[in-house]
Amino acid sequence: MATMESLIGLVNRIQRACTVLGDHGGEGMSLWEALPSVAVVGGQSSGKSSVLESVVGRDFLPRGSGIVTRRPLVLQLHKIEDGKSEYAEFLHAPKKRFTDFAAVRKEIADETDRITGKSKQISNIPIHLSIYSPNVVNLTLIDLPGLTKVAVEGQPESIVEDIENMVRTYVEKPNCIILAISPANQDIATSDAIKLAREVDPSGERTFGVLTKLDLMDKGTNALDVLEGRAYRLQHPWVGIVNRSQADINKNVDMIAARRKEREYFETSPEYGHLASKMGAEYLAKLLSKHLETVIRQRIPSIIALINKTIDELNAELDRIGRPIAVDSGAQLYTILELCRAFDRVFKEHLD
Ligand code: GDP
Ligand code: NA
Ligand code: MG
Repeated sequence: MATMESLIGLVNRIQRACTVLGDHGGEGMSLWEALPSVAVVGGQSSGKSSVLESVVGRDFLPRGSGIVTRRPLVLQLHKIEDGKSEYAEFLHAPKKRFTDFAAVRKEIADETDRITGKSKQISNIPIHLSIYSPNVVNLTLIDLPGLTKVAVEGQPESIVEDIENMVRTYVEKPNCIILAISPANQDIATSDAIKLAREVDPSGERTFGVLTKLDLMDKGTNALDVLEGRAYRLQHPWVGIVNRSQADINKNVDMIAARRKEREYFETSPEYGHLASKMGAEYLAKLLSKHLETVIRQRIPSIIALINKTIDELNAELDRIGRPIAVDSGAQLYTILELCRAFDRVFKEHLD
């Protein structure tokens, strides 16, 4: 019997196979969309990239001013045995293993430009990145462009709306778990992430509120109203985060040291000490992984139904193009068919 961890792994694999077939989950009803994933949403500079890097325990995302994330990044984390060395792989370059995370960052930037040109336009075609590491939990996260209020020089006026629409196509799906990032040094009532989350998930059942930059709040103020759920109630508890500051990044403070610093911050905090065990990026990662497992488990019957429908459609498609097939699309259809069958078997085992 497979473990729940391998269930998340299977979901990862089928999402990748769907993408190869052109199913991005961006629009229309699809298998991709029926599988749960976590989308990271927030205003520009709210700390989205920092949270993602902290969850992964690695520096690997492009940085800079302006709109850095211009294509969705589907980040699949796979936990491997302790002692094994970590590496990354892109779906668009499947034969290449990256062990240097600076090269991962460069490849994300280059691959973004390959589709969008250097025009700073956005594209809804995702980049798929898998990270294999002993320091992660099994989880799929989608990094999305930051919500913004104004276009910067060289960008079309429509970019503000284009970004919001792109983010909305992800978060409005009922299977999307929303990781809503808000900075603590701004009034929560003005948070772009919460505004959008409230619109698509008014009951707050699939929204996880994350409050970054607790260390940057004005002296004498604290975020207990938010963290204890009084300012904006969600069905899941809020998680407070202290990421690396820009000065830390400039000094090359590594992620492991940053995680330790964050833990110390909460453990020694007079305001947040009582919440310390439920704060920080490591706790957030575990919380999300556990939630993702629960959601997948709940959805198994509907996923099986959809997979069976997909198998029928794939068989029909294979009949249409005739078997055996030499062309790439045929081979891809076979791959996804095999994956669907594997899913069906594993999911059924879980039902027993
Ligand atoms: P993004 O635009 O939402 O991806 O935001 P980034 O993660 O790139 O963060 C924007 C800036 O805020 C960077 O200079 C980070 O170092 C800084 N930052 C993010 N989170 C925190 C935090 O919790 N504390 C402090 N002091 N700085 C943070
Ligand atoms: Na942001
Ligand atoms: Mg970013």
